[in-house]
Amino acid sequence: MGEPLSHDWGGQYDPDPADGYREWLPESGVAPGAAPAEPAADTADTVDTPIRRAPAHALPDPEDEPHTPADDHAPRHTADAPEEQSDVVEETVQRALAVHRLLNGQTPPTPEPLPGIRRIPLPDVEPPRADLVKTLVRRRSWDVFAHRDLDLAALSGLLRFALGVQRFEPAYGSEHHPMGMAPSGDGLDLLRAYVLIRGTDLLEPGVYRYEAIAHELTRLTIADPVRPLQQIYWQPEFAAAPVTIALTTRMRVAFEHKPLRHYRTMHVDSGIAVQNVYLIATALGLACCAVSDFDDAGLSQLLGVPESEVPTMLIPVGHPPL
Ligand SMILES: Cc1cc2nc3c(=O)[nH]c(=O)nc-3n(C[C@H](O)[C@H](O)[C@H](O)COP(=O)(O)O)c2cc1C
Repeated sequence: MGEPLSHDWGGQYDPDPADGYREWLPESGVAPGAAPAEPAADTADTVDTPIRRAPAHALPDPEDEPHTPADDHAPRHTADAPEEQSDVVEETVQRALAVHRLLNGQTPPTPEPLPGIRRIPLPDVEPPRADLVKTLVRRRSWDVFAHRDLDLAALSGLLRFALGVQRFEPAYGSEHHPMGMAPSGDGLDLLRAYVLIRGTDLLEPGVYRYEAIAHELTRLTIADPVRPLQQIYWQPEFAAAPVTIALTTRMRVAFEHKPLRHYRTMHVDSGIAVQNVYLIATALGLACCAVSDFDDAGLSQLLGVPESEVPTMLIPVGHPPL
């Protein structure tokens, strides 16, 4: 287990959003580049209302159990989810999978889960301080990357601030349910991030799973994933990126709490996480691209995930070309 992050970056980076941007607020009349706003009938009394601050962000609790792949490879039969309920969950998963297979024209394999080889704590890093709007303006998709490796600090910052844990809340039978940096439907913890690292001088090659709570990587394989990635990406040039993040979403967790129509929300959750990766990568001076054109079955096999853990997006990450 890694050490908890040593600084309360959440408190530090939760400034009063009105500071420095008063001219953007509706009560001042004009937003930059926008036509003067009609004063809303109910705004007059609210001009001096203090803006509600978010609660202080909790830090990850290193005592919390990390994800284990066995969680997803078998239906759950727990005290909270009696057998009958598990049957309903399983039936919903199977119905969703039937649609999913139809849409993809593929039945992904059910590979053996990859055992964790070792845990690698990620270094504690300062959050990027880039302005949000500047970052939005600078963000773009890259399909070519500089011949430069990614170091562990950059990878750590990207994972921590895009896909890490923002706070914990009592929910779903836990006092410490993780709430991510990206919002998710009902706060469910569906998403998993895997990091596929090309062999470099700075990072050891292999498939890794990101453990968001502990902010660690679990190494799952030691083989360089470049060759399989060249087959998996429909545009093989993306395999040249030093790192690929693979996002998956876990149907079984979704349908333990939500009905079948939540199939859509799983993909929305994933899309929001993708935008987080784009923005933090941009703020860190990195380059990336959302990639949905890939071979699902090949990727499931490489990650060792069951069919009910659906790969949703690949994100090659590197440095922008000079
Ligand atoms: C959901 C999604 C899937 C995408 N899939 C691919 C892809 O498979 N291949 C690719 O080259 N770009 C892909 N892109 C990147 C888009 O082509 C790119 O975002 C779009 O052209 C706009 O360019 P910009 O991101 O530089 O603003 C994807 C983007 C999104 C949001």
